[in-house]
Amino acid sequence: MAMEIRGTNADFGKVVTDGLASEWMKMNDTYRLAGQTVRRIGFGAMQLPGPGVLGPPKDRDQALRVLRRSIELGVNHIDTAQFYGPDVANDLIREALHPYPSELALVSKVGARRSAQGDWLPAQTPAELRSDVEENLRSLRIDQLTVVNLRRHEVDGEANVPLEDQLAEMIALRDEGKIAGIGLSTITLEQLETALAVTEVACVQNAFSLVDQRDTPVLERCISEGIAYVPYFPLGSAFPHFPKVVDQPAVRVVGERRGISPAQVGLAWLLGKAENVLLIPGTSSLGHLEENMAAAKVKLTDQDQAELAKIS
Ligand SMILES: NC(=O)c1ccc[n+]([C@@H]2O[C@H](COP(=O)([O-])OP(=O)(O)OC[C@H]3O[C@@H](n4cnc5c(N)ncnc54)[C@H](OP(=O)(O)O)[C@@H]3O)[C@@H](O)[C@H]2O)c1
Repeated sequence: MAMEIRGTNADFGKVVTDGLASEWMKMNDTYRLAGQTVRRIGFGAMQLPGPGVLGPPKDRDQALRVLRRSIELGVNHIDTAQFYGPDVANDLIREALHPYPSELALVSKVGARRSAQGDWLPAQTPAELRSDVEENLRSLRIDQLTVVNLRRHEVDGEANVPLEDQLAEMIALRDEGKIAGIGLSTITLEQLETALAVTEVACVQNAFSLVDQRDTPVLERCISEGIAYVPYFPLGSAFPHFPKVVDQPAVRVVGERRGISPAQVGLAWLLGKAENVLLIPGTSSLGHLEENMAAAKVKLTDQDQAELAKIS
């Protein structure tokens, strides 16, 4: 059951650090992810590499500390990709956490690669999906990934790889035991239905937050199917041209009234959507990590929800 928290700005993270991590763990509810039970707030590793998700972090020791602290705070679900860096996020995860806690769900995604300049390019063929899964296993030094998300990357005006061919490869990878569950990312409702006709789906990872609610139909379908829904960009992302949850006046009003941070408002709103919503906020900051984890204790009131409904 969620508990309300109050406090000054300086208290946001302290709520967890002052010996309350175990209490948080008891209170934080969980959901199923490919046969594992994970806490509803996990960690997204995309902010660990350098600016633009390219190259080494500005502060490598800090990146390692963030990963280790996330585990201390109860994270048992980490989202990554070989193309974060590229290679950087996975290498940091291995260095910080291997040998991994037995309950840790390591989730990756395939379907993209980076150019030398950092462009995000499609790598969508079945052969590319397979080699990317194998590269993740090698770099993370594991035999099986809890989930691999097939990240669709469609290019207008080009012959995109048929989803059916990709799903057949993902199913083969699961049959071989290289992945425990198949996830889908950046997919439409129609593509989700196509997938559900041929396979169990462990999770859907699409963009969704207070500032981008266009994916509501997919979320609702996941709720009805009991599929874990893992919104990416839960705070609006680090990319400069995207609207930020923490900048919304309604979010700030609620945060000030409740004595919690704007990020906690945005994360609590997502948690309140449905029990199958699992969060993977991305951060390179210890303070933000602690603050985000403490969002598990925030329960928004009807008054808060009415204020947040003003965000279009
Ligand atoms: N499937 C896909 O295609 C896909 C796409 C994008 C992302 N993802 C996954 O989803 C995860 C989450 O998305 P994301 O990291 O791109 O975006 P996000 O979680 O919406 O936002 C990250 C940004 O928010 C800032 N932030 C984090 N906590 C904060 C706090 N408490 N207060 C203020 N600012 C805060 C971070 O800066 P600091 O570093 O300074 O905290 C960073 O700039 C990623 O890490 C990745 O694992 C998947």
